[in-house]
Order: sequence, then structure tokens, then C-alpha cells
Amino acid sequence: MNRRNWLSKATLGSTGVVILPHLGIAMPKTNLGDTYLRLASNENPYGCSEQVKKSFLTSVTAINRYAFPSIPQLKIALAKRFQLTAENILLGAGSSGILEAVVHFMLQREGDVTTATPTFDILPAMLEKFGRKSHYIRLKQDHTLDLDAMLAKTQEHPGLVYIVNPNNPIGTVVASQELRQFITEATKYSYVLIDEAYLEFCDNPESMIDMVINPRVMVIKTFSKVYGLAGLRIGYGFAHKEWVIELEKFMIFAGLPISSPSFSVATVALDDENFVDFVVQKNTESKAIVVETLSKLEIDYIPSQTSFILFNISKYPTDFMMDMKNKGILIGTRDYLGKKWCRVSMGTVEEIKEFTKVLTELWKA
Ligand SMILES: Cc1ncc(COP(=O)(O)O)c(C=O)c1O
Repeated sequence: MNRRNWLSKATLGSTGVVILPHLGIAMPKTNLGDTYLRLASNENPYGCSEQVKKSFLTSVTAINRYAFPSIPQLKIALAKRFQLTAENILLGAGSSGILEAVVHFMLQREGDVTTATPTFDILPAMLEKFGRKSHYIRLKQDHTLDLDAMLAKTQEHPGLVYIVNPNNPIGTVVASQELRQFITEATKYSYVLIDEAYLEFCDNPESMIDMVINPRVMVIKTFSKVYGLAGLRIGYGFAHKEWVIELEKFMIFAGLPISSPSFSVATVALDDENFVDFVVQKNTESKAIVVETLSKLEIDYIPSQTSFILFNISKYPTDFMMDMKNKGILIGTRDYLGKKWCRVSMGTVEEIKEFTKVLTELWKA
């Protein structure tokens, strides 16, 4: 399915399917009140830590107040943690909030976006709504980003390069040295935005944050994934102070759309390294269970460095997503390389055991 098709399909209400326009991921529609195993949206199945819950409940006493003082406080905490200054920090209502500011920034200037396909493409999709051009570069045969082709494209059409590393919905990562070289070259022509929403789940996570000394580099991260705070909407980013000043022109008080409870819990979450380690370890356990089942069933999959796995369901004879839904499990599907794939998000170990049991039953039926 090409992009235009799946975007228009997103508006079809009666198919029993919702297409997420930013991913081309199809997910089953659900009725309010239905309880399903939610393995379609890359959410953290372990919730958040006890300390975070406690600070959220305490923050309720101050919800009559605006969060003005919390904005610099969180910036200082993040700057300290990542060895930068508060002037390098961006805050948003989710990292999507920062992506939205980047869209506004791009709309004020000439230039195209270069990105990969498939990827998390909410940013180029939004720019396209304003008539702007995006260039989608196919992945290499090993399903990783084709950085050479992306560099060539942005030389030809400068503007912005948007890189999701590790890549959603594929799950692969590019080697950090290669990415560093790419950033150095590409910023001669364009701005470069690296989205590290899933970096903590990698075997050897290496952030590009130290590269924001370059005025054309930005790195964004989120509290929605490993920290388990998707519903609170809080994301953060790092850029050279010159770019931060430009971007914050499009942000109300540089973070006021973020609620005061979100600010309170973010600082606590950031310090809770045990919880992050726990989530990453459990994610690895869940992935191992899925991989073992896929191997037993001889189903092709793409080895993943994230909290989800993409596997090939082209051989499945009926509608895999609907069959899963009928068994109480929500997963996403998408087309890639002319084949049909399932993207399953890692649930808890128990949830994933349930998923693999149902997968095995359906596959062998
Ligand atoms: C790669 C990537 N970036 C950014 C986001 C946005 O996340 P949030 O706005 O919750 O921070 C997502 C959400 O799934 C994502 O997958």
C-alpha cells in the first residue's frame, strides 16, 4: 500500500480497522469498555515505578497552579543529567510536542525533509499537509537505514533529515560511528533530527546527545516508553542553544502545555534507574520468548533492538489481526517489501506468554 492509500484509509470508519497515519500500522477498532491485551502501541506494560506513583498523587494537591517554576527546574535536572546546560533543553507534551515545533520551524523556511521508509513519520506527514515535500529513502536489505542514500538526497534537496534510531516500526539500529559520520556530513547541508524514543532498549545504547554542540543537530527523547508515562505526555530534546531559541518561538512558555503532575513525576522518573533497568530486562525476556516461538513456527522476523518485533505474516491464510482480536489481543499489521507483517509490542512476560500461546494455536490451525 502506498502512503496516499493508507492515509486515505485512515479516514474510513467502517472497516473495523484504524490505520495510524504516522506508521501505516493497522490496528483493530475497539469498543469502549472492552478489555484487550494491548500489544499494538509500544506502551510500557509495567506502568511506572512506586516512587513515580507517589509523586503523582502528591502533585494532585497543586493542580490549581500553573507549572511555570517547573519548566526551568526540569530543564536544569535534564541538563545536569546529560552534562549540558539548561539552554540546550527542549520540553514538549510528549516528544510529539517537540516534533510539532519542528514542523512550525520548517514551515518558516525553505527546504525538504529526508527520512526513511518505513519509519515513524508523523513529522513529514504533518509537513505534507502544508504542501511541503518529503523524500522517503528505502531501508537497505538488512532493514537498516540507508545513510548514504539519505545523505545524497539531502545534498540534492537540503532542509531537514529526520532519523529514528532505533527505527520504529522495524526495530533495527544503525552503528553509532556510522551515524556520527553521517551527522557531520549531513549538517553541511541540512538540519538533522535524531529521534531516540526507543534507545534505552538497545543492547549497546549510544546517544547522539553530545553532537548537539553542532548548531544543526537535535536529539529528542521521551518519558512515554521506558519510563512508562505515555499518558502523561512529556518528552524532551537537546539542541544547540541557537536552535532551541528558534524552536521555542513555537512553544507556549517553552513547556506550558505540559501539566504540573507531569513535571513532578518526570524528575522522579529520571532518577529511578532501577525501574529503567527492570523494564529493559523484562523487555529482553519478553522478546526472547517471542523470538523462540517465531523460530519454532518458522516465521521470519526482523531482530529487534526495541520494545516491539516485526514478523512476517504473509503465509497466514486469513486476517491475522482480526483473529488475534477475536482472541482478545490487539496487535498492529503493516505492508513492507510487498509482504504483510505484524508488529507486536512487548507486553509483560505473562502477557507475552499468552500472546505466543495464541499465536501458536492460530498458526497451526
Ligand atoms: C519513534 C517515536 N518517536 C516519537 C514518538 C512520540 O511519542 P511521545 O509523543 O509519546 O513522546 C513515538 C511514539 O510512539 C515514536 O515511536
